[in-house]
Amino acid sequence: PFWKDVGGISLLETEAASRLSVRKVLIVPGDADESEWTKDDMARQAAGEMSRILTDNMVIAVAGGSSVARMAHYVQPTAEASNITLVPARGALGEEVDLESNTVTVRMARNLEATYRLLHLPDILEEETLRNIQRDPGISGVLDLIQQARVLVHGIGEAEEMSYRRGLSEDIVHILKEKNAVSEVFGYYFNDLGEMVYRMNTVGMQMEHVHTLDTILAIAGGKSKARAILSYIRNRENYVLVTDEAAVREMFALL
Ligand code: G3H
Repeated sequence: PFWKDVGGISLLETEAASRLSVRKVLIVPGDADESEWTKDDMARQAAGEMSRILTDNMVIAVAGGSSVARMAHYVQPTAEASNITLVPARGALGEEVDLESNTVTVRMARNLEATYRLLHLPDILEEETLRNIQRDPGISGVLDLIQQARVLVHGIGEAEEMSYRRGLSEDIVHILKEKNAVSEVFGYYFNDLGEMVYRMNTVGMQMEHVHTLDTILAIAGGKSKARAILSYIRNRENYVLVTDEAAVREMFALL
């Protein structure tokens, strides 16, 4: 297969970065839908990329999900950078505990030998309660740190799957269908044109802030996620996408 040819895969990476208009694409062989090995390979690549971008005193925001959770397992401390702080990107979004951003943040910080701060918030809060809670000194200190983050790590989900995984109400599932949501990124939902069609109500990193960050590392692969990845990632020039061969081939077919 072509990926055994190192020149071939790096050519495909360059082509993908240019066709998607992102800073960089890292591609591993195979299809994450079918192989744990491919998922691990993406996680390792993402961890490697993270160690390349670490600098002293960096604050990194970390979103939840299985892809970032797997990456957390592979990150390693580096002598190149000190005083790194990890924070969850946003408050809880209804994810099961192993995959929620607080858990993933702790795991990644421990393996990185970095400091971390967590956001202890219930999943579903009324708008007004959210506003009040942000004044709590424990919460507002973490929110300030999230504002200081210049780097973010997140996965990309398929909208329908994520709406079930997050236990969204039938009404919201209906809205997402009506608005043709295809992708999900830490509580934000997007259509095929990359337009945000729904946002979950919580505190922390807001999508408006993402455009201003130095680097975002997105990890998502598998043929079944191609449409979702494509809808979200196009023309996001501060992004490094870590993905697999099957997702890239399918994205090219959709383009
Ligand atoms: O927030 C979750 C991501 O959007 C996708 O999660 O990496 O488990 O597929 P995943």
